[in-house]
Amino acid sequence: MMNRRQAAQAECTVGIVGFGTVGQAVARILESDLHPNLRLTHICNRRIANKKVDWVSSEVVWTDSFECLLRSPVDVVVELIGGLSPARDWVKRALGAGKSVVTANKQLIAHEGAVLLGQARDNGRQLLFEAAVAGGIPVLQGLRQGLAGDGLSGIQGILNGTCNYILTRMEAEAVSFEAALTEAQELGFAEADPTADIDGHDARAKLAILIGVGLGRRVKVDDIPLTPITGLNPIDFIYASKLGHVVRQVARAELVEETTATRAGVQPALVAEDSALGRVGGSQNIVVAEGRFGGETAFSGFGAGGGPTSVAVVSDLLTLQGGFSQASEGRLSIDTGPTPVSTEFVDRQYVRFTVSDRPGVIAKLADIFSKNRINVDAVLQEPGWPKAELPFVMTLERCTTSAVRAALGEMEGLDFHMQPPFWLPILEKGDRS
Ligand SMILES: NC(=O)c1ccc[n+]([C@@H]2O[C@H](COP(=O)([O-])OP(=O)(O)OC[C@H]3O[C@@H](n4cnc5c(N)ncnc54)[C@H](OP(=O)(O)O)[C@@H]3O)[C@@H](O)[C@H]2O)c1
Repeated sequence: MMNRRQAAQAECTVGIVGFGTVGQAVARILESDLHPNLRLTHICNRRIANKKVDWVSSEVVWTDSFECLLRSPVDVVVELIGGLSPARDWVKRALGAGKSVVTANKQLIAHEGAVLLGQARDNGRQLLFEAAVAGGIPVLQGLRQGLAGDGLSGIQGILNGTCNYILTRMEAEAVSFEAALTEAQELGFAEADPTADIDGHDARAKLAILIGVGLGRRVKVDDIPLTPITGLNPIDFIYASKLGHVVRQVARAELVEETTATRAGVQPALVAEDSALGRVGGSQNIVVAEGRFGGETAFSGFGAGGGPTSVAVVSDLLTLQGGFSQASEGRLSIDTGPTPVSTEFVDRQYVRFTVSDRPGVIAKLADIFSKNRINVDAVLQEPGWPKAELPFVMTLERCTTSAVRAALGEMEGLDFHMQPPFWLPILEKGDRS
């Protein structure tokens, strides 16, 4: 049996499947002189003839057949095709063929991680996926190992660079959501079809993985509620600023005390402008873990892009090559079924109303909040808006998500609304650097 030193020196052969943005960036690192014990031997992609490049060693085998990769003696298959199909089947087959697998595929791990990790364990192989959450930020390693000594009670983060870019542009330039999105697309920060980003699906998959690895709870991805960022208006950034806050798409989860449930959601929220989350601008990401003993710990940096993401993939390869017996599942329970998700956070709230102004509007709204046992904290109204379509904001003292929803539901029928009320939680955590 090899000792640790021998294992660390052993060569690890690598086959990449999916030679796109991340696959090529991984190959660049493997073809550099940085990691002599990691040897790229196979590149697999459909229509492989179109993919060939001249900077890869002539010994590398190019193939469009995944079977060829499976039959080869590669130690590790790096899955970088994305999506659930055929990635799920290919990862299963690679593990079944005795390969370890490294992937950056958040949807695959969020939906199938527990099953695949179980298969890896049964086969005595590893499945590592550091790049699937927050790209180049070593947050899973940080949660699994660096914070293993603590008991984490919550995690919140900015996990989607596209949304963060759009929101920080709306904040800086007072432009509409549509204008900020178009700019993000032109600069390559948003996909032609940005739905998965702006509706929160991308951040939700990453949050589900963080819940598994950091909080040790397995949840069904689709149980986590989403609120898209499309409802935001430039005026929300003005009011947020008056309150000393900025608006971010926040993915968050907390253990619900004395149950197996996890409070979780992905939604735009107000965060203090001098908080760790508030200071993250542009396409950057952050994850803040809340520990019972260590308090808040933040991990931040570039959450996407070929360069940062490929670094996370190669770091996983080095973990495998080094022979470390890392428990790749972290605290993720792979032997039990999914646990419940609760949508019931308790927060201060920001509610923007747009009304046809007349006497008694605020009294009527305040009355409904009061009937729902919600205390109004403040009313903010910027000058210069027409009375026929007047936006103003009420901030509310801490109340549950269901209470604010119930109150807003009761307000639906009121005839002075010119637009439906728009509400955001005002977060109080993540406020230390
Ligand atoms: N890009 C990032 O910044 C980033 C960050 C974090 C995580 N990730 C994750 O990394 C993975 C790869 O992302 P990417 O940005 O590199 O994607 P990409 O640029 O679209 O590359 C995907 C590659 O896989 C190939 N491919 C797709 N389906 C295939 C199939 N059925 N058979 C064979 N080849 C197939 C594609 O070939 P064609 O060229 O022929 O389509 C393409 O070369 C995804 O899971 C993504 O979520 C990406």
